[in-house]
Amino acid sequence: MRNIRLSDHSIYIEDIWSNFKDLIENYDHIVVLTDINSRAYCLKEFEMLSELKKFDIITIPTPEQQEKEGTTGENLSVYYIEQFKNQDSCSKIFDRLLECGADRHSLLINLGGGVICDMGGYCASVFMRGMDFIHFPTTLLSQVDASVGGKLGINYRGYKNMVGLFRNPIGVFIHDKFLESLPERELRSGFAEIVKHALTLNYNLWEQLKEMEDIEISNLLPLIEKSIIIKKQIVQTDPTETGKRKVLNFGHTLGHALETSFLKKGEPITHGEAVAAGMAMECYLSMLHYRHDEDWLASILVVLKRFFPKIDIGDKMVLDLLQLIRVDKKNKAGVPHFTFLIDIGNVEYDQIARAKDIRAAVEYYRKNY
Ligand SMILES: NC(=O)c1ccc[n+]([C@@H]2O[C@H](COP(=O)([O-])OP(=O)(O)OC[C@H]3O[C@@H](n4cnc5c(N)ncnc54)[C@H](O)[C@@H]3O)[C@@H](O)[C@H]2O)c1
Ligand SMILES: [Zn+2]
Repeated sequence: MRNIRLSDHSIYIEDIWSNFKDLIENYDHIVVLTDINSRAYCLKEFEMLSELKKFDIITIPTPEQQEKEGTTGENLSVYYIEQFKNQDSCSKIFDRLLECGADRHSLLINLGGGVICDMGGYCASVFMRGMDFIHFPTTLLSQVDASVGGKLGINYRGYKNMVGLFRNPIGVFIHDKFLESLPERELRSGFAEIVKHALTLNYNLWEQLKEMEDIEISNLLPLIEKSIIIKKQIVQTDPTETGKRKVLNFGHTLGHALETSFLKKGEPITHGEAVAAGMAMECYLSMLHYRHDEDWLASILVVLKRFFPKIDIGDKMVLDLLQLIRVDKKNKAGVPHFTFLIDIGNVEYDQIARAKDIRAAVEYYRKNY
């Protein structure tokens, strides 16, 4: 295990607490941003291990926001925190930063999942034209995905990540023990991105995943490390997603459509659940595209099935999905674009598929997954 160097910061996996102390020693004002769950489950351990004595804390949603939504602190529903990834929360964060006397020389520590990292990084980047920030991701998804690549932002008028920018933290710290309190669905959600990194870019990692019976937190750290390195290599060649970074969209064209469709129905599923089903369908499309045989497809699906239960897609949703992929952010002139697997560890992006094949992919998933 070793720390991962990027152009202007590191992702720390070993000796995280001593590296953390070194990195923060010159900041005399530190603010920690959490959400209600990361505060409940991770803050105490963070305080104890970091030995950080003096800091201000901001928690999203605030009691006022919760009251407005009519919810309580115990609510752990999948979409609960995501709905606070918005301008209102940014205002609350700015208000608190001002209130506690933060300025551009202060440091913001984002202790939470992807929502807190994306939104905290965004707020830090624009507060007084930019203060330093650290990511302390507490979900598997944020450890392997949201913490790498510098994408920051919030949702706007129902559009995901519509407002934001690219900027790097001064450091990212991976503490796998935080994952112990994570609901199983959230763990699987992050695991889907590890599977994606393997399928698209690393045959050896795929071989390793194939051997696994189930997801065990105690064995995850080496996989997290590999996954981060894979994502790092891609984002370094294409920091602002103009080309190669699109390989990371594998499973996401149909995945995003599924995520949106379930959300519209009022039954949100996790990002990873949607992406896992999206990957299964896009493997089917890859099979058609490169004329692989069904055994090729079956050998991938057997692994996906082990980790990701089938999602129930009703007749009505099939039509909705076909509509939704036409308005995807990745489209060009209304034509959905895909990343396809030439083979495991080897992909092509900006690929298109016939509408009838996309429908067949959804139907295949419904019947055979
Ligand atoms: N910047 C990027 O490159 C990038 C990449 C992928 C995803 N994202 C963003 O990340 C977000 C999704 O991230 P996520 O899945 O981490 O969601 P999240 O931040 O909503 O966290 C998921 C749930 O887990 C809870 N939680 C967090 N840590 C916990 C812990 N240790 N124990 C128990 N509960 C805990 C949260 O409160 C929340 O309810 C989305 O907004 C997405 O847009 C960004
Ligand atoms: Zn994703």
